[in-house]
Amino acid sequence: MDKITIEAPAKINLTLDVKGKRDDGYHELETVMHHVSLIDKISLEKAPDITISSDSDLIPHDENNLAYQAAKLILEKNGKKAGVKIFIEKNIPIGAGLAGGSSNAAAVLLGINKLYNLNLSHQVLQELAGKLGSDVPFCLTNTSALARGRGEKLTPLPNIEKLHFLLVKPDFQVSTAQVYKEFDLEKVRQVPDTKAFLKAWQEYDIISLANNMQNVLESVCLPKYPEINKIKLDMLKYGALNAIMSGSGPTVLGLFNDQEKIHRAYTGFLQDYKEVFKISSYIRGE
Ligand code: C5P
Repeated sequence: MDKITIEAPAKINLTLDVKGKRDDGYHELETVMHHVSLIDKISLEKAPDITISSDSDLIPHDENNLAYQAAKLILEKNGKKAGVKIFIEKNIPIGAGLAGGSSNAAAVLLGINKLYNLNLSHQVLQELAGKLGSDVPFCLTNTSALARGRGEKLTPLPNIEKLHFLLVKPDFQVSTAQVYKEFDLEKVRQVPDTKAFLKAWQEYDIISLANNMQNVLESVCLPKYPEINKIKLDMLKYGALNAIMSGSGPTVLGLFNDQEKIHRAYTGFLQDYKEVFKISSYIRGE
């Protein structure tokens, strides 16, 4: 095999709680992460060096790209002198709270493991992923998960029936590092009830699931960017069961259980926003 293409799905957070700041500067999280059907495609081809190109000029085409760093890490760790030609078909918005870069890096790890027959176990891949970024270990997995620690300690959740979402990304990006820097536990008014969310998940009680969706990082982003709150309110007007910001934002996700309503919301938001996506839960290989 000389070539392989791997799908790299976006991630959303259905709950996100920050428990406190750690000694290493990171924040201790408790968050439910979910793969969704907004997908980048990563093509890998055996080559003498690592090179990177994309149909998007919004991402770095050099070693600053996390996908490049993933290739370097896994090839060097395995004593491979060879490289890889990486092409990224970009569909996931950048700086959006959707883990696009992390998902691309995870796909490179999975792809190179196959392309070069490295036969690395899932656990070894997870360790490499953790070195690249907090969201990369989750992006390697096939299931939804409750994530703790920096985001790398994963408890898989059972698959449930597909959930349907509308994603709306306002026309600006936010820096994850900046959002965490500005996070102040004292400014958080409501924390997610993760236990209640997980109970609703087990019972597939979609109303309770929706009611328990909550993201404490909104306490940083909503006062700063009122547009995020406007999108949340509009999403509810269109009939979403609930709407929250994903990750460190600024993308808002609305959970719907009615195809007509989600379609009306989709066409409505498209009048004001370029980046609107009607998506659902993603399971690799389906
Ligand atoms: O791990 P990653 O490089 O994706 O994280 C980006 C930034 O977000 C980190 O540099 C850190 O400032 C912040 N972060 C955090 N706590 C986490 C995850 C990320 O403070 N659990």
